[in-house]
Amino acid sequence: MGSFVVAIDGPAASGKGTLARRLAKRFGLAHLDTGKLYRATAFLVLQAGGDPGDSTAATVAAGRVEPALLADPRLLGEAVANASSLVAAVPAVRAALLAFQRDFADRPPGGARGAVLDGRDIGTAVFPDAAVKLFVTASREARAKRRFRELRQRGAAAIYGDVLQDMKERDARDSSRRVAPLAAAPDAITLDTTGLDADQAFELASDLIARALADRQPSSDKRG
Ligand code: CDP
Repeated sequence: MGSFVVAIDGPAASGKGTLARRLAKRFGLAHLDTGKLYRATAFLVLQAGGDPGDSTAATVAAGRVEPALLADPRLLGEAVANASSLVAAVPAVRAALLAFQRDFADRPPGGARGAVLDGRDIGTAVFPDAAVKLFVTASREARAKRRFRELRQRGAAAIYGDVLQDMKERDARDSSRRVAPLAAAPDAITLDTTGLDADQAFELASDLIARALADRQPSSDKRG
């Protein structure tokens, strides 16, 4: 039986990352925040003094992304976030990062039985056959408020109006690009977290995963 994959997609600051992390922990699955791959690519371009809109520089950087870089706190800033959606529109960047994502889920670290991946195109392009697909969303204002709070909590100087404007531009770019745009897969279940707190979203998603895991058991196991 193949690895059990949970695909969680959604726009910026929709709450998909927190949800993915908690679900992975509850079900003993590995977790990959795929946005970090694009952020790391953008970071390497910026660090080399390059232009994130230059597809050659972005493609070279994507080939240099190492797992250790994904935990670097320098990936969390808004400048890197904005640049990440520029490099993410380059087809060769996406192709270079695809293998990393598929390897992660096929051979999850720590011998886990599967993986939770969160991003923009996991259910549509990276794992169209994922066992569970969620599309997590919230109003743009709710998301901008969350991101603003996160930035302030980390001690970053953030202005709410700028965060809202950046998010608007990034969502538009992510949704309109030609390759793997941000979209809900036709068979994804949408969770709108505007009026839902993190625990409610977690419980709803947990039920879906528990059901999918039970369906995977060979029928002899189920009879017990
Ligand atoms: O944390 P936040 O939701 O703001 O963004 P992220 O998940 O870290 O993703 C940063 C950027 O990477 C996005 O704006 C997308 O342009 C890109 N991305 C992508 O194209 N495909 C993915 N699977 C994940 C992220």
